[in-house]
Amino acid sequence: MRILITGGAGFIGSNIADACKKDGHEILIVDNFSTGLEKNLEYGHQCVRIDINADEMQQVFRDFKPEVVIHNAAQVSVGRSLKEPLLDQEINIRGTLNILQGCVDNGVRKIIYPSSAAVYGLPSYLPIKESHTINPESFYGITKYTPELYIKSFNKLYGLDYTILRYSNVYGPRQDPRGEGGVIAIFLDKISRGERPVVLGDGYQTRDFIFIDDVVNANLASLCLGSQGTVNVSSNTSVSLNELLNILGEIVGNSLSPIYEEERPGDIRDSQLDNSCAIQMLSWTPQIDLKTGLSNTLIYYNKSRKVLL
Ligand SMILES: NC(=O)c1ccc[n+]([C@@H]2O[C@H](COP(=O)([O-])OP(=O)(O)OC[C@H]3O[C@@H](n4cnc5c(N)ncnc54)[C@H](O)[C@@H]3O)[C@@H](O)[C@H]2O)c1
Repeated sequence: MRILITGGAGFIGSNIADACKKDGHEILIVDNFSTGLEKNLEYGHQCVRIDINADEMQQVFRDFKPEVVIHNAAQVSVGRSLKEPLLDQEINIRGTLNILQGCVDNGVRKIIYPSSAAVYGLPSYLPIKESHTINPESFYGITKYTPELYIKSFNKLYGLDYTILRYSNVYGPRQDPRGEGGVIAIFLDKISRGERPVVLGDGYQTRDFIFIDDVVNANLASLCLGSQGTVNVSSNTSVSLNELLNILGEIVGNSLSPIYEEERPGDIRDSQLDNSCAIQMLSWTPQIDLKTGLSNTLIYYNKSRKVLL
């Protein structure tokens, strides 16, 4: 299959690109490297370095003629969405529209779109089902949800098929620990440097962590399944940050004594996504338990540290 992967130099996109290549698909990455990294393209993927909003995007569609687009490129920082809402909408909403236009003008069969738990806002029950009220707390949540509506309209108007995957907290190799990144990437980066992890709040807040390989597999399954579906992609388990640190302590054979700092205003206390729709629609189940995923990720951070030293 010919697959165009936007944001393919980023954490999730590059892991999807590797798996697609391994499965024999022909892939093309489009990325402007705003947060993506050259070193993530270690398997020599074909890559066009442009912005998804650029006019040249349409030429990329005409030349490559993808059958499926996996549209990962996005402004992913909640904090930045609040500080620079225009930029956030320019990339996440206008950029997605530019991609959708390319899809319908060039006969693309399907778009796979990564959405987020951020679209739900404060949960009124747990685990959250896809039918939960949409009430984003941040501009990021709004600009991840608006494309879902456009995608459904493009389907009705032009027949473009889609699968929308709403991820919980994804973690694994290549996640960038800088900025607000994922909490696991930040903890592991600190631990690999021999520093104490910093917890914002009392550490009893809970999260639903899903390992990158499981997210990749949900994308691979969506190439042929999940037509017109919107599904949560999650482990459907919840773990507190304190429990997470205990597991990490077991892995490194050392009890970790974190530094507790003030909670970030607006942070959601507990989050867990029900994944039964994904299990049913995508014939998919998460395979990697937290301890295994954390061990694999720690190996990656230790290796990258050695490369830098
Ligand atoms: N990481 C998570 O836990 C998580 C959770 C829910 C949803 N998502 C979604 O998954 C997708 C991938 O996220 P990620 O964690 O890999 O982030 P990432 O920052 O590692 O990847 C995003 C990629 O998009 C590229 N990009 C950004 N703006 C671009 C533009 N205007 N033109 C071209 N390329 C551009 C970046 O350079 C980067 O390579 C995003 O759509 C994000 O909203 C991620």
